[in-house]
Amino acid sequence: MTAQQGQFLAGKRIIVAGGGFAGLAFVLALDQLWQSLTLDRPEVLLYEENGRDESIQKDAYTLCINGASQDDGLVAIQQLGLLDEVREHSTLNGGDIRVWSDNWKWLSSINPTVYGNLPAATMRITRQNLKRILVERVEQTQTVLKWGSACTSAERLSNGQIRVSISEDVGSATSSTLDCDLLVAADGANSRIRACFRPNDMTTQYAGATQIGGISYLPDGLPKPIDQDFSLQMSSGEGVCCIYHPFDSNTIDWALSTVGPEREAKTNFTPDEFNQLKQEALKTASMFQEPFKSVVEATIPGTAFIRPAKEKPAFQHDARLHGVMFIGDANHILSPFELLGANLALKDGWDLAEQICRNVSLDAAAASYDRLSIPRFQHDFNFSHERIGFGHCTGSKWMFYKYGMAAQRALKKVH
Ligand SMILES: Cc1cc2nc3c(=O)[nH]c(=O)nc-3n(C[C@H](O)[C@H](O)[C@H](O)COP(=O)(O)OP(=O)(O)OC[C@H]3O[C@@H](n4cnc5c(N)ncnc54)[C@H](O)[C@@H]3O)c2cc1C
Ligand SMILES: *[C@@H]1O[C@H](CO)[C@@H](O)[C@H](O)[C@H]1NC(C)=O
Ligand SMILES: *[C@@H]1O[C@H](CO)[C@@H](O)[C@H](O)[C@H]1NC(C)=O
Repeated sequence: MTAQQGQFLAGKRIIVAGGGFAGLAFVLALDQLWQSLTLDRPEVLLYEENGRDESIQKDAYTLCINGASQDDGLVAIQQLGLLDEVREHSTLNGGDIRVWSDNWKWLSSINPTVYGNLPAATMRITRQNLKRILVERVEQTQTVLKWGSACTSAERLSNGQIRVSISEDVGSATSSTLDCDLLVAADGANSRIRACFRPNDMTTQYAGATQIGGISYLPDGLPKPIDQDFSLQMSSGEGVCCIYHPFDSNTIDWALSTVGPEREAKTNFTPDEFNQLKQEALKTASMFQEPFKSVVEATIPGTAFIRPAKEKPAFQHDARLHGVMFIGDANHILSPFELLGANLALKDGWDLAEQICRNVSLDAAAASYDRLSIPRFQHDFNFSHERIGFGHCTGSKWMFYKYGMAAQRALKKVH
C-alpha cells in the first residue's frame, strides 16, 4: 500500500514552541488543511511563554502586511480566511516607497502593484489587533493552548521522537517533559530550540548600519510629504538616511541611520539620555529640512531606540534536524531595514502546514518547505543589503544613484 499524504502525522503529536505570527499561522493552517484529509487529526499543543493578554498587548507598533506578491503576508491572511476581519482593523495603503533628498526633492519611487484579488498592496494594522485576531481564531480550533509556558530545551530520542522540556507557569519551578513526533520551533529570534539543535548558529551578524529613532505623535496631523507612504530621506552623499513609516494620521515611526561600528541595542532611556538621543539625531542629520526636526522633537518618551541592523541567514532542514522544523524568526532574521519579518513568519506557517498535508513523509515535506521558504527569505535578505548600500551611499556611488534616479524620473514622466 502506498503512503497517503499527511499520514505520517495522523494521530501523532505536534508541539509548537512559540505563539508569535509563525506559530499561530501554522496551527490555523494545519487545522484548516487537515479537513481535506480523511485521517485522524494530530494532537497539537502550542506553548507560549507569555500569558495570553501579555502576548497580545506587548510591543505597541503598527505592522505593514503586504499584498504585492505571492510571497507576501496578506496572501497567507487570505488563505487563512481572515482577510475580512483583518481589513476591518486596517488602513489600506498603496505600499509606495518614496525616496526624497535632504531638502525634500522627490528622487524616486517604488510603486508595487496589488497581487491577485487582494484589496491593497499594503495593509497597516497594529500588532495587537493582528495578534488578537489570530489568537481568537486559534481558540476556536482543537489546538491545546498553553499560555505562560515555555519550551526550554529539546532532544531527539533513539526512537526518532523529540523530547521537549517544558516549564509551565514560567517563574515557578514546575517543569516536565513531553515527547512528540514533530516539534515546530516558532520561538523567535533567540530560539532556545535552535540553541539545542544548532548551538553554533546563535549569533546574529551586524549588517553595518545602526538606526536611532522612535515613534512620534503630531497632534495636528502628519505633515506632507510623509503623511501617507513609506519614505526614505537621503543625504547628498554624506551617508545618512531616515526612514519614515506612518502608523495613522498622527503617529509615525522614524529611524535615522548611519554606517559605522556596531552600537549596543537600547530601548530604555532616562530623560537625559532621551534628550541626548534627539540631539544626536538633529546633529547627525542637520542637512535634513523640516519636517525632520518636528518629527524628532515629537518623539514619544519610552519609544526611543538604538537598533543595530542584525540579521541571520536561513538554514535548510537536513537529516540531522529530522522531526524539528524552524519557522519565522527562529530560522531567519532580517535586519530592521526590511520590515518584513511578520510577513515571512505568516507565510512560513502556512507553507509548513500545506507541505505536511501534501507530502507522504516528513522529509519530503521539509524539503518542499525549504524550497518555498528559503528563496523567499533570501530575496528580502539580498534586497536589505542593497537598501543599506543605497541609503547610506557616499561619493561616486551617490553620483551613480543620483543620475540613475533622474533617469527613472524621466521615464516615469514619459509613461
Ligand atoms: C518595531 C518593529 C516593527 C516591525 N514592523 C514590521 C512590519 O511592519 N512588517 C513585518 O512584516 N515585520 C515587522 N517586524 C518584524 C516582526 O515583528 C517579526 O519578524 C515577527 O514578529 C516574527 O514572528 P515570529 O512568530 O517568527 O517570532 P516572534 O514574533 O518573536 O514570536 C515568537 C514567540 O515565541 C515566544 N517564545 C519565545 N521563546 C519561547 C519558548 N522557549 N517557549 C515558548 N514560547 C517562546 C515569544 O514570547 C513570542 O510570542 C517589526 C519588528 C519590530 C521590532
Ligand atoms: C511535496 O508536495 C508538494 C506539493 O504537492 C510537491 O510539489 C512536492 O514534490 C512534494 N515533495 C516531495 C519531496 O515529494
Ligand atoms: C541572493 O544573493 C546571493 C549571493 O549574491 C545569490 O546567490 C542568490 O541567487 C540571491 N538570491 C535571490 C533570491 O535573490
